[in-house]
Amino acid sequence: MAYSWLKAFHIIGIVVWFAGLFYLVRLFIYHIEAEEEPEPARTILKNQYQLMEKRLYNIITTPGMLVTLVCAIGLLVIVPEYLKQGWLHFKLGFVALLLAYHFYCGRLMKQLEQGKCRWTSKQMRAMNEAPTLLLVVIVMLAVFKNSLPKDLTVWLIFGLIILMAVTIQLYARKRRLDKEKQLAQPRQVPQQQA
Ligand code: HEM
Repeated sequence: MAYSWLKAFHIIGIVVWFAGLFYLVRLFIYHIEAEEEPEPARTILKNQYQLMEKRLYNIITTPGMLVTLVCAIGLLVIVPEYLKQGWLHFKLGFVALLLAYHFYCGRLMKQLEQGKCRWTSKQMRAMNEAPTLLLVVIVMLAVFKNSLPKDLTVWLIFGLIILMAVTIQLYARKRRLDKEKQLAQPRQVPQQQA
């Protein structure tokens, strides 16, 4: 029974952790783009994003990470045999990358606050894809363990999901570029009637 509770909260922690990571980098993108706004909008927006980022990181993302890890340790205490299995070793490797990403986000948040962040919003958008890849790999390892599917149908479905994700990203990129083009065009001033 304790095992099921721990696993349930392990998964709840993962959902909260990833929701936080995805939204945090979205806020970084808006924060960087606020730099292009004229004053006083720039300062107001930057202060607001800073506050939102801090709250999101400290109240949602980091606690989500801690719940995930504490429950994972609990699972391993109950079933220590998992520690000898290959899938868990791979999973731990990817979790280490995820943790590095988490703490790097914390560092970027501080750099943004001090005006020292050198990332462009486009680079930040690309960076936001990293946790998606880690999520897919880690969940696949947790679910299939040492018997990751080898038959063609499963890999075709997997390929289809990746294709859908790429299409959505390309569509979002096209919409963004269209919007940028529209904003770059000189506005037509309506002619006043004499
Ligand atoms: C230190 C880090 C972690 C450790 C030691 C760990 C360990 C474990 C263990 C022992 C289980 C139980 C396996 C079972 O009963 O079938 C489990 C389940 C699971 N873990 Fe993790 N985990 C960690 C982090 C993560 C992360 C970061 C994710 C997601 C990105 C994740 C996703 C899952 C999922 C989806 C399950 C449920 C699998 C199932 O019931 O089929 N884990 N984990």
